[in-house]
Amino acid sequence: MANPVKAFEPAFLGKLELPNRIIKAATFEGMTPNGIPSERLLNFHQGIVDGGIGMTTLSYCTTEADGRIMESMMHLHDGIESELTNMISTLKQSGARVSGQVTHCGGFTKNKNLQRLKKPMGPSKQFSPIGASVGYFFVGEMSHEDIDYLVQTYRDAARYMKRVGFDAAEIHFGHGYGLSQFISPKTNKRKDEYGGSHANRMRLPLRVLAAMRDELGPDFPIIGKISMDDGVKGGVDWEEGIRVAKTLDKNGIDALVTSAGTSSYNVMLMFRGDPIVKGMIALETNPVMKFGLRVFGPLLFKKYDYRELFLLERAKAVKDAVNCPVIYIGGCSTRESIDRVFDAGFDFVQIGRPLIKDANFVNNAQTNKEYDSGCTHCNFCVPLIEHPEGIRCVLNDKREATS
Ligand SMILES: Cc1cc2nc3c(=O)[nH]c(=O)nc-3n(C[C@H](O)[C@H](O)[C@H](O)COP(=O)(O)O)c2cc1C
Ligand code: SF4
Repeated sequence: MANPVKAFEPAFLGKLELPNRIIKAATFEGMTPNGIPSERLLNFHQGIVDGGIGMTTLSYCTTEADGRIMESMMHLHDGIESELTNMISTLKQSGARVSGQVTHCGGFTKNKNLQRLKKPMGPSKQFSPIGASVGYFFVGEMSHEDIDYLVQTYRDAARYMKRVGFDAAEIHFGHGYGLSQFISPKTNKRKDEYGGSHANRMRLPLRVLAAMRDELGPDFPIIGKISMDDGVKGGVDWEEGIRVAKTLDKNGIDALVTSAGTSSYNVMLMFRGDPIVKGMIALETNPVMKFGLRVFGPLLFKKYDYRELFLLERAKAVKDAVNCPVIYIGGCSTRESIDRVFDAGFDFVQIGRPLIKDANFVNNAQTNKEYDSGCTHCNFCVPLIEHPEGIRCVLNDKREATS
């Protein structure tokens, strides 16, 4: 029996009241040229706020300059404080809430202008497929001092996030980035107290959570985004994903976002639908790289057919295992799917691509039981994170992907 009203009613996330239970997922928009939040980024989120979202999420806010995958990403620092404060206060004017996804790429970077570090650093020394493209062939192993420093950057970021007006913080524990590299046995080969057992691999993520909680206090919601499964042999599998969720729950996370896959090893598990390599080929201007992508691209990306709510059963297993609220994510692009998410007992839902397709998603879904966002999961918007103007839905704006 559908529960059509719950999604659209005000709800509490911890102590924070949201106008409804629908949250914009973190989708790095590529609208922070030189790391500075642009008017384009504000307009993008304003459209979604005007479209009725309960809370929007400013994505991929890194805790330090060297936490960025690309230089065009935003790192939380004094130099952008006024832009960020203005943006957040503008977005909040109509009652929507604003969350920030706080993250660090660890060894997963192709940023040629590292500032503090000499080369990318992660839990263990290993080959870096993404870094190799810019000459960083290997990721170095973080020392205990490096780990302490990283925790301190998250602590500083927490203080900063409160100061600039964020309503919530979403720590990125998934998708193969910094903290996920420690959680995953595929990338964490350490022999010290930060590697090996589940407890050891969770030690750094839990230190980060504790430091942020210490700064933010008990009433400021901290959300954790996890990969329930890395989708790669030797990585986090579905069972380990449930253990990760339980450990974060026990240690005071306010809500969990249950994603899957990693940008490094199996990105399509996160998206399903058309392989993102199609868009990468269209976007690539270098003919040699274009040819390489045509030949090798299809081998690099696994194919998963799209289906609505493609993570529902797996996320339900997490929901049943934890006490904290669970925010469903993954392929919720129709009103019928929204109803199914809440019928299944989830507390909130996050929406990514359907909001890129239709900023008015929430209002439209609320007023039309037959609503379909029209997102075809072609995934062309994904590689556009590297386009100078950032992402767009290619169905709404039919320019060539490269223009
Ligand atoms: C253009 C784009 C950029 C994304 N960037 C991020 C990101 O910065 N952080 C993150 O956690 N997930 C990111 N994602 C993944 C989404 O948050 C989400 O997990 C995924 O799109 C599946 O949800 P959906 O079916 O509602 O789109 C991105 C997705 C897209 C389409
Ligand atoms: S480009 Fe548009 S239709 Fe294609 S996945 Fe992105 S939002 Fe959906």
